[in-house]
Amino acid sequence: MRLTDEQQAMLAGREGEALAKCLRTLVRYGDAFGAPRLVPIVSAHLTGSFKIFFYTAYYEIVRRLVDAGVRVKVPTTLNPRPGYDYRPQNRIVFRSQRWHEEQLEALGVTPNYSCVCYEYANVPRFGEVLGWAESSAIIWANSVLGARSNRNSIMVDICQAVTGLTPEFGYLFDEQRRGQLLVDVSGIERMDAPALGFLVGKLAVDRVPVLTHFPFDRAQLKNMGAAMASSGGVTMFHVEGLTPEAPTLREAFGGREPSEVHVIGQRELDAVRSDAARQQEAGVIAFGCPQMTLAEAAEIGRHFVGKRIRKPVLFHLIPQAAEEFSRTPLYQEVLRAGVEVHTHCPLAGLSLRIGVGDVLTPSGKLYYYLQGTRYGTVDEVLRVAGVLE
Ligand code: F3S
Repeated sequence: MRLTDEQQAMLAGREGEALAKCLRTLVRYGDAFGAPRLVPIVSAHLTGSFKIFFYTAYYEIVRRLVDAGVRVKVPTTLNPRPGYDYRPQNRIVFRSQRWHEEQLEALGVTPNYSCVCYEYANVPRFGEVLGWAESSAIIWANSVLGARSNRNSIMVDICQAVTGLTPEFGYLFDEQRRGQLLVDVSGIERMDAPALGFLVGKLAVDRVPVLTHFPFDRAQLKNMGAAMASSGGVTMFHVEGLTPEAPTLREAFGGREPSEVHVIGQRELDAVRSDAARQQEAGVIAFGCPQMTLAEAAEIGRHFVGKRIRKPVLFHLIPQAAEEFSRTPLYQEVLRAGVEVHTHCPLAGLSLRIGVGDVLTPSGKLYYYLQGTRYGTVDEVLRVAGVLE
């Protein structure tokens, strides 16, 4: 890898040994993927927001960076909190959470606590190069905004934040961003975007899928992308005539033919959902993975007005959206119906559930990752909650 004079000096320790180690990590990471150089990033996003008591190395590295007085070089946002106050057992597993948050804040990280960082705190523009981790945020940045980030891991994300650099490979290049397989969704009559994302992720694995046109809204794109990046390692998708690098199918594929063509119809989509009996057996209903936006909370929340829930319902919102939501009359109505409104990550918050029962969710990502979870469309889940006929 060719390094600039400034990068060579950083590697030699001019800005301290801690920063030199971070740069060395990025050079090795880049070498593994054949990157020719390191390039500047506009922003970073970190996944390591949970303080889990049985992990040690990550926190030790963060502590050393803080002790060395290192600060992030670019605006850097942070994933959600783990819900250490959600249940007593969470307080045990996530003990020292506050200490870890103070460490990250000492590095200069923005305490936004959201994987949906692109709604408020960290909004990239088309073509900008990012050093992000968190697969659901990366897939949004690449696909919906046309910004450029590889699917970086925890620790690599911090190295990028404190150096302001990322190795140039993969999704930073036009070649990697072109569609590879075509998914024809024209036969779907009742769209269920998270279920579609779940299926596309399994088909595409780590390739770039191109979906035929459908007028997905922002919430659908968010929830579909997160599912695709979970059931598969999808880092970018295109939707014909909707996402910025796919005005036409031809442009989405860069003038090449798709290597495969798949059809996903109503039957395939319906098969993702758990049957009605399994949905009814769930002990708790969880919305918001990725965290809900204000628009989602308003759209789903209106069904709870004047009703009383039949089983526990949890909303997980972006903290800023929760703050805005709490200032609306609908918020009081939702609370009156019995809904709990949280701002932490439901995957972390519910991982240790004891005596809560299994989870029912309309999130494809939560369904994929949280053991024993059942999946239903938003309407099905609202019916189980007892607020929709
Ligand atoms: Fe976000 Fe947690 Fe889901 S980080 S995407 S709410 S697993």
